[in-house]
Amino acid sequence: MEDFTKPLDGMNTLVIGGGGQGIGHAISHAFAAAGASVAIADIEPERARDTADELTKAGARAIPLVGDVRSLQDVDGFVAHAAAEFGRLDTLVTVVGGQVAFVPAVRLHEMSDDDWDLVYEMNLRYVARAARAAIRTFLAQGNGGSIVSLGSVTGVMAAPMQAGYGAAKAGLASLAKTVAAEYAGDGIRMNVVACGAIATPVAGTAQDPEGAAKIPMGRFGVPGDAAAAVVYLASPLSSYVTGQSLVVDGGVTVRGPFPD
Ligand SMILES: NC(=O)c1ccc[n+]([C@@H]2O[C@H](COP(=O)([O-])OP(=O)(O)OC[C@H]3O[C@@H](n4cnc5c(N)ncnc54)[C@H](O)[C@@H]3O)[C@@H](O)[C@H]2O)c1
Repeated sequence: MEDFTKPLDGMNTLVIGGGGQGIGHAISHAFAAAGASVAIADIEPERARDTADELTKAGARAIPLVGDVRSLQDVDGFVAHAAAEFGRLDTLVTVVGGQVAFVPAVRLHEMSDDDWDLVYEMNLRYVARAARAAIRTFLAQGNGGSIVSLGSVTGVMAAPMQAGYGAAKAGLASLAKTVAAEYAGDGIRMNVVACGAIATPVAGTAQDPEGAAKIPMGRFGVPGDAAAAVVYLASPLSSYVTGQSLVVDGGVTVRGPFPD
């Protein structure tokens, strides 16, 4: 019988982007509450440190790691440090990503090659690097592992004004399927949480009643909605689930254009 109260009890986790102001922060806290030790990797030293301090004060084991996902050395270092500090690594979560924080929202014909490369690197390329490093560690440990990546409904539907972002997030879903197929026999799983509009400081959606009214559930998501899905996919509760994208969007992608 799985532990439904502390589904990550005794597990060691690396959350890349775990110092974030929205989803990353919520995931770090949710993992600690679910019983995990958490390594919080972020490019902003204060964010990583402050979040680790909060978790430690709440009674969890947590360490900050500082680096840039654009650096192969830093990404490999995140995985190596987390595994060394905790003695083993069970779960990798990749949170870093987005569009508005990195490149302007424009139609494809206005998009530069540099912006395409940047948004691809921040949403897909580093995830493949981090997954590779984690898989090498999981294989060496010999006891499986779980990878969960933050995706987006822009990878499921069309993504107007966000072509590079949507293509990268769609690539993430493909990466999860391939990892699932290649490593199922090794007990290694990879899944995606594909978020709709989640109200965070970066997304700036909190005060937009017109936007909320377009969502079937009538509200934007909160970071905890995403975090709960990530905890489930990281934990043994989902031990028979791999290569999937779990859409967390208040019903946006299932509603057609016609009134109810
Ligand atoms: N907020 C939404 O509405 C929404 C919708 C769909 C998908 N998502 C996805 O959710 C994820 C989290 O988004 P968020 O806006 O809540 O982010 P967040 O606030 O959780 O922050 C992410 C963290 O990444 C860190 N970071 C940024 N660049 C970095 C780098 N180069 N190296 C290391 N760390 C870096 C930031 O400092 C920040 O702490 C993203 O992958 C995003 O695409 C969000």
